[in-house]
Amino acid sequence: MSSLFSSFNLKDVTLRNRIAVAPMCQYIAHDGLVNDWHGAHYASLGRGGAGLVVVEATAVAPEGRITPGCLGLWNDVQAAGLAKIASAIKAGGAVPGIQIGHAGRKASANRPWEGDDHMAEGDPRGWATLSPSAVAFGANLPKVPNAMTLDDIVRVRNDFVAAARRARDAGFEWLELHFAHGYLGQSFFSVHANQRTDEYGGDYTGRSRFLLETLAAVREVWPEHLPLTARFGVIEFDGRDEETLAESIQLAIDFRKAGLDMLSVSIGFSTPDSNIPWAPAFLAPFAEQVRNASGLPVASAWGIDVPETANRVISKNQMDLVMIGRAHLANPHWTYQAAKALGKEQPSWVLPAPYAHWLERYTVN
Ligand SMILES: Cc1cc2nc3c(=O)[nH]c(=O)nc-3n(C[C@H](O)[C@H](O)[C@H](O)COP(=O)(O)O)c2cc1C
Repeated sequence: MSSLFSSFNLKDVTLRNRIAVAPMCQYIAHDGLVNDWHGAHYASLGRGGAGLVVVEATAVAPEGRITPGCLGLWNDVQAAGLAKIASAIKAGGAVPGIQIGHAGRKASANRPWEGDDHMAEGDPRGWATLSPSAVAFGANLPKVPNAMTLDDIVRVRNDFVAAARRARDAGFEWLELHFAHGYLGQSFFSVHANQRTDEYGGDYTGRSRFLLETLAAVREVWPEHLPLTARFGVIEFDGRDEETLAESIQLAIDFRKAGLDMLSVSIGFSTPDSNIPWAPAFLAPFAEQVRNASGLPVASAWGIDVPETANRVISKNQMDLVMIGRAHLANPHWTYQAAKALGKEQPSWVLPAPYAHWLERYTVN
């Protein structure tokens, strides 16, 4: 039986345990470039004990940033900065991963601490957004996006491929395509956002086309021996969940056939009209369902921040990896303390020697 502290193999990569730092935007980049904050933040997470650290949503094109403070990977200078981040994560013993994405109709927003909504019309920091159809998200994100032309679709797909190539060359060993949370990939799949009448809209086949084509194109450049994963919202909690879940399971199966190695099961966030039943580990049953039906290994997140809960969802085979977000902001050494809490004799093995040597003899209160 797997436990939180058993290692995990995917392709040629071995994680030292089943704990991953979930991707979390820091929103403080300029021109998509990493700075000293990112260096300090990711180095601490890399040495904290988690098996995998996934760097925040990194835009494949300037208009694909959620906010002006988001990271980017559309040029080589950005890639050089991110290479240092990959190296710092690896020095701490974690596998360096990165999430690449395009924010679609949710782009051009303020940073969360500035209000978490679209920048006002005429704000010089804002930009025109892209989506499958000219339909706004609504609520606090009222900006109407431009409907993508077929040329736009090809261009953005190529942007994903170029970013994947740069991530590979920067030393990342784990790639996650951000197809979740109401951003561009999720919008192509969602009936709330996609009203196209061409081959990229309509039925399941049309609405999944952009995602499957993008995955296939990225797989061509992302090394076969390294994990290629995606984050996708399998459910919206919008009242039509049975249908969405059934289509999402079909997509997971098609993802697997197209070369995906793992799915990070999340929420769609495609409509403000949802009723999400927040509770500890509430996505675990859905992750388990997708895992069993698709044959894909899965990760999942949201409220799995108590060691016993994390160990339970792994032991019950509901998921292969736990993605832990905010608890890692509070405590980058969450994994080390979780090992202690779960009664591991020598949890120091999750840390590099300069810490491990001392902490074997030290009681953390
Ligand atoms: C500050 C912050 C930034 C986030 N940025 C991203 C992101 O870049 N990509 C993503 O897929 N999810 C993002 N999320 C969602 C997290 O990955 C995670 O799913 C969420 O925090 C729930 O997990 P938790 O309950 O362990 O915090 C973000 C969450 C937070 C709190």
